[in-house]
Amino acid sequence: MILSIESSCDDSAIAITEIKTKKLLFHKKISQELEHSVYGGVVPELASRLHAEALPKILEECKPYFKDLKAVAVTTAPGLNVTLVEGVTMAKALCLALDIPLIAVNHLKGHIYSLFIEKEASFPQTVLLVSGGHTQVIEVKSLEEMEMVATTMDDSFGESFDKVSKMMNLGYPGGPVIEKLAQEGDENRYPMPLPLSQSPLIAFSYSGLKNAVRLVSLEADEKDFPDIAASFQKAAVGHLLQKLKKYFKTNPPQHFAIVGGASANLYLREKIETLLKPFNATLSLAELKYCSDNAAMIGRVGVEMYEKGRFTSLDEVKTEPRTSL
Ligand code: KG4
Ligand code: ZN
Repeated sequence: MILSIESSCDDSAIAITEIKTKKLLFHKKISQELEHSVYGGVVPELASRLHAEALPKILEECKPYFKDLKAVAVTTAPGLNVTLVEGVTMAKALCLALDIPLIAVNHLKGHIYSLFIEKEASFPQTVLLVSGGHTQVIEVKSLEEMEMVATTMDDSFGESFDKVSKMMNLGYPGGPVIEKLAQEGDENRYPMPLPLSQSPLIAFSYSGLKNAVRLVSLEADEKDFPDIAASFQKAAVGHLLQKLKKYFKTNPPQHFAIVGGASANLYLREKIETLLKPFNATLSLAELKYCSDNAAMIGRVGVEMYEKGRFTSLDEVKTEPRTSL
C-alpha cells in the first residue's frame, strides 16, 4: 500500500491506496474553508498552522496500515510553500521511521489522475484544468508526457470566482456560492467583456473581467447579486469556450477531460459538453468528491510512480511552489 499526503493549499488530506488493485482503502480530508472564509481567501500562515494540527490527527487513523506500507507519496509542487512543507516534513519522518521510499508528486498531475481513481489510466486526453491556482489546457499522452498548450496570463478561473464572491461579501470559496447564486440570476442583464476576444492568442486572462464586475457591483445592491453572478459566470465560461473553440480548429479533440476544483461547476460542464458535440469527443470528469484537492489523486499518481521506481531520496526532496507540470 501507499500512503499519500496532500497539503498544497487549504485541504489537509491523507489516503491509503492498494498498489496492485489501485483500490482506495482510506481517505480523509479536513478542509479549512471555514477558517479562511472570514478573510475572503487563503491566509498561508493560518493554513500552515491548521495543517500542522489536522495532518497528525488523520495520520493517527492510518496506523493500522503502517505495517503494509511500501512508500509514502506527497505533493511537493506547486502550491503554497509554507503548507507544502507541512506535508513533506510528515512524509520524510514517516519514510525514516518505516524505512520506505518517498515519492514526490506534482499536484497538477494529481488533478489529472483524479480521473482514474480506482481505475486504469487512459490516454491520450486533452485536459482542461480549472482550479484556484490554475487555468490550463494540457495535452496528456502519459504520466511523463504532458504538454501545457494554454495557460492564464493573470488570475485563474477559480480565483476569479473567489474574488467576485469577495467583492459581494459572500465568503470563500467563491465558486460554489457564485454558481448557486447565478442559477437565480439573469445572465444577460450585465453584458461583460469577453477577455482577449480580439487576440489571436490561445491564452486566458481573468483580471479585466474581475474589474468589470467590480465596477458593476459598486453601483449594485444585494438584490442585483444573482444577476451579477450569472452575468460574470457567463463571461468567465464564455472565455474558456471561445479559446477552446479556437484551439480545436487546429487540434480537434478526441478525448477531453475537465479536472480541478472548478470542474465541479455544472454550468461549465454543460457548455463544454455542447462544445464537444460536433467533434464526437468523449468527455471525462472526476467524481465530484475528487474534483477539489484530495489525497486520493496523489496516491493514484503515487501508485503509477511506484511501479516505475520513481523515488526521491530524502536528502533531495524539496518543495517547489511555482513549478508547473
Ligand atoms: O482544485 P482546488 O480544490 O484547489 C486548487 O488546487 O486551487 O480548487 C479550488 C478552486 C477555488 O478557487 C474554488 O472557488 C473553485 O475551485 N471552485 C469553483 C467551483 N467549486 C470550486 N469554481 C467555480 N464553480 C464551482 N462550482
Ligand atoms: Zn488543486
